[in-house]
Amino acid sequence: MCGIVGYTGGNQAAPILLYGLSRLEYRGYDSAGLCISSDAGLTTVKARGKLANLQELTSQGTALPGVCGIGHTRWATQGDPNDVNAHPHESASGKFAVVHNGIIENFRKLKAFLTAQGVKFASDTDSETIAHLIDFYYKGNLLEAVREATQVLEGSYALGIVSADDPGTIIGVRMCSPLIAAIADGEAFIASDVTAVLKYTRDVYYLDDGEIAVLSPNSVKFYDAYGEPVVKPMAHIDWDADAAQKGGYAHFMLKEIYEQPKVCADTVLARIKGGAVDLTDADIGADYFKDVEKIVILACGTAYHSGIAAKYWLERYARIPTEAILASEFRYAHPIVDDKTLAIVISQSGETADTYAALGEAKRLGARTLAVVNVRGSTITRSSDRTLYINAGPEIAVASTKAYTAQLAALALLTLTAADQRGTLERESNAAILAELQRMPETMQKTLDATAETMQYLATLYFNQSSIFYIGRNLDYAASLEASLKLKEISYIHAETYAAGELKHGTISLIEEGTLVIAVAAHMALFDKLESNIAEVKARGGDVLCITQERCRADPEQVANRVVAIPDVHEMLTPLLSAIPLQLFAYYVALAKGCDIDQPRNLAKTVTVE
Ligand code: F6R
Repeated sequence: MCGIVGYTGGNQAAPILLYGLSRLEYRGYDSAGLCISSDAGLTTVKARGKLANLQELTSQGTALPGVCGIGHTRWATQGDPNDVNAHPHESASGKFAVVHNGIIENFRKLKAFLTAQGVKFASDTDSETIAHLIDFYYKGNLLEAVREATQVLEGSYALGIVSADDPGTIIGVRMCSPLIAAIADGEAFIASDVTAVLKYTRDVYYLDDGEIAVLSPNSVKFYDAYGEPVVKPMAHIDWDADAAQKGGYAHFMLKEIYEQPKVCADTVLARIKGGAVDLTDADIGADYFKDVEKIVILACGTAYHSGIAAKYWLERYARIPTEAILASEFRYAHPIVDDKTLAIVISQSGETADTYAALGEAKRLGARTLAVVNVRGSTITRSSDRTLYINAGPEIAVASTKAYTAQLAALALLTLTAADQRGTLERESNAAILAELQRMPETMQKTLDATAETMQYLATLYFNQSSIFYIGRNLDYAASLEASLKLKEISYIHAETYAAGELKHGTISLIEEGTLVIAVAAHMALFDKLESNIAEVKARGGDVLCITQERCRADPEQVANRVVAIPDVHEMLTPLLSAIPLQLFAYYVALAKGCDIDQPRNLAKTVTVE
């Protein structure tokens, strides 16, 4: 989704803005632009396509003198991706320029009003309306004009605004789209997320909905929607800045796949004390699950897939009725939720608009809320009763990998806690699973070592397929859903997952000679069932790649055409391991096809519009 940066200070702004935008590229975009505000007025430059085009157009920023400005990467929502629709947008008077992330839902009404006042629009975007509105309300006080303009906006917006009348000042505003402000010595920044400013400072402020930040080189002041000053706590970011670099890997995605053992250790190890799970860091005490009658898990995409695995776990091991519901569907489904319901919202970014909206709906219906989130201080964590952080560090590749397995690890800890509190799993079994979870970082490393080369080879055999099907049962079904999403989002191969038993109810008609079907069969208790489904596929000419455990008693090579084994593990934890060869397969297929792996077409890392 769109990325915003703003800089005011003593250095040339444009190179700093371009650097910040390069750190936000991972969010996904189709055009980029800058506006520098100086005594000479506003200078705006925009370019369709990759940031490299804007860098070239501005000679890496050196062609745009000035020490204050705003920049933007745009992910098109309203209006085609072209130079005119790219941000920043200037007001008709040329006095104000605006960058926007979000959607202005009432922009047609506002545009009609402004057009009736004689305003001429240059672009097809909703965002341009904001620049003209500021012009309309401006009577010499920028803060007041911005405040009045935002009062009439409906929808979501993070804004960066500069004015020709106030060179050196930047205004940032936030409503349901992420925005931070940050300060360093004689410099101030706004950004969509901290990665854009980490090189310069670690002292940041998270804006809340309705808040306005006024930045000058030596200060950041905050105001509420009524223009009253607000005192905000500063947060210090302790991430290693290198964590957001590729560190010698060809792609962030590959780096993040290989980081999984360490991330799993960071999610799990500090939360096992004296042989038991201790979630006090998330304020989850000894009675947390005792009176929970129902759980709803709300999430999107990959996070939803970890939620499906958790649904199987919570029902089986903690015996709590659990539904995993797509966040985008929840609000409109008339869900049955009350104060005995625990709503678990899962989100890597903590900013996904659909998930945030579902969280709001669950709260409105009286549910208790728990966020399972990666990004500290994000919107979803600040709106939930409690947060269990997954500690995955910055995830830069659009295709989520390490956040997915870290979500699974955190949800496994949660399941074992619930089972313990409710007495639904024998102590020995609970302890045995926990011990395996504690060893998971090493087991993940073994899985990487054992499968990487094979998956790279298999990718060379199958990268030309036009369709690939994934099948699995129960937890293997949950794992397959994630595996097929991974493949389709980065390789653009049509990929679908079916519950293995469902294939014969229709989809089997698509299987023809040589169609690749990946059967995830890591759940040993269900292997025989899956074996029959694999046989059905093979009988129709399908080529079957089976992912199973080393201990598989049946001779899987008799069953499938090819077999990849993951180390033996308790069946509850299989999704943490089967994910690894399947992520690698998606990666190497995309590599063989020459795809833009870290920034696949049309996708955004943080989806801040509903
Ligand atoms: C896929 C992927 C997306 C996200 C989804 C939710 O690889 O990353 O499907 O999982 O957009 O994002 P978060 O977890 O940030 O709420």
